[in-house]
Amino acid sequence: MPATFFINWRIVRPLLFICFLVTISLYYVYYTFKPPTALYNDLFVSETQASKDLIHNERGNRYVKFNQLQGAGFNNQAQEILLYHHLALQTSRVYVYQPLIWRPRGETAGVPLSAFLPGVTDNSVSDSVFDEVCPPEEVVHVKLRANDLDQWNHAKTILNQKDRCIVVDDRIFNWAFLESAGTHTIWPSFQKYLGIHYKWSDIILDITNRTQTQLQLKPAGEPYMALHLRRGDFEGHCEYLADSRKGFTTWATLPVLQPAVFPPALDTYNHSSVVEHCYPTLYRILDAVSAQARRKPHLRTLHIIHDGAWDHPTVYLQFYKLAEALKNEGWAKDQDWPSGPMLRITQSAHTPIARGERDFAVCVDVEMARRAEVFIGNPYSSLSTQVAALRLGDGGQVEDITFV
Ligand SMILES: *[C@@H]1O[C@H](CO)[C@@H](O)[C@H](O)[C@H]1NC(C)=O
Ligand SMILES: *[C@@H]1O[C@H](CO)[C@@H](O)[C@H](O)[C@H]1NC(C)=O
Repeated sequence: MPATFFINWRIVRPLLFICFLVTISLYYVYYTFKPPTALYNDLFVSETQASKDLIHNERGNRYVKFNQLQGAGFNNQAQEILLYHHLALQTSRVYVYQPLIWRPRGETAGVPLSAFLPGVTDNSVSDSVFDEVCPPEEVVHVKLRANDLDQWNHAKTILNQKDRCIVVDDRIFNWAFLESAGTHTIWPSFQKYLGIHYKWSDIILDITNRTQTQLQLKPAGEPYMALHLRRGDFEGHCEYLADSRKGFTTWATLPVLQPAVFPPALDTYNHSSVVEHCYPTLYRILDAVSAQARRKPHLRTLHIIHDGAWDHPTVYLQFYKLAEALKNEGWAKDQDWPSGPMLRITQSAHTPIARGERDFAVCVDVEMARRAEVFIGNPYSSLSTQVAALRLGDGGQVEDITFV
């Protein structure tokens, strides 16, 4: 029967149209939700190309590849990478960089460092070409660990030796070193290093600009104070730090930053004192904000960077409690705020990032805090101490920083 071949276009046409819409929507969802794989692949290719150009065009270079932290949080990795890059430059060596290990995507997923810190990858060489420039038989293996506070100069002496290709087998910027006064030797030159070599990628600067525009924060809107509320897994972690009498981390231990520490001073032999600085009560945080608000009455907007997430939902509750108090007229009056309470409170959860940009959110948080007129942070957190270092590297004032 010819009816078998009869196509009813009145039914088929809308069906085709629906199929078309569904395909477009699925493609859109796939495209916006996936990590920026295409960008990462392109960057890996251009990193390798730039590295090849560098090794083929220059003579007399000396190289160093370090044994680096793999897979901790972004700021822990970034902090170590910056210190090693600085050490390489101080000893006139080309730094051999490795991909960042991105924890949310599994232990071994590496992402290109130039997507985050192009200041480190410029004029450095990617690990992917290391064997080409330094074949295994030409590599000298060294250990840099010293058992005293002069770790930095000890490492410099070894790296100043003339071997062309050095691979460092041990790790020197471990937790014990990062909380010791050993970092103080590094600070004067590291502060200058940050001013010259610290650079975010364009995508991160772009998202930060978009954030300032949409949240109406300076330079696109009002001047603001930034507060880093480090909670999440810190409650248990702070108990451990208090039990083991740990002091602040990295740059928060610098003598120059001690005036930024909200009193009373830290006493590592006093359990409550460590907890007070590491996991401050909301009252203590309010007091710290108050002190800065009295100093800078024109700051009526506060941007809160917090780690609230599905696995740490109570952080949102703490955020709302702080926000309610800080916007309260009577409370601000009691606290002698000269021009009234905060008018507006924004938060990191409002950062307008598209799905494919999620990897960059933590960097945007750091940059938003670096650009704030005043920064209030946690001296046990690597994000906060990184922000403090970047601010000082950029000519920022100690008075505009508070460590709770
Ligand atoms: C971000 O904004 C600043 C000034 O507001 C501008 O100078 C800069 O070029 C912008 N950067 C990007 C990546 O859009
Ligand atoms: C320990 O620290 C807490 C919090 O700062 C303080 O109230 C207390 O007096 C300190 N105890 C001693 C013995 O110093």
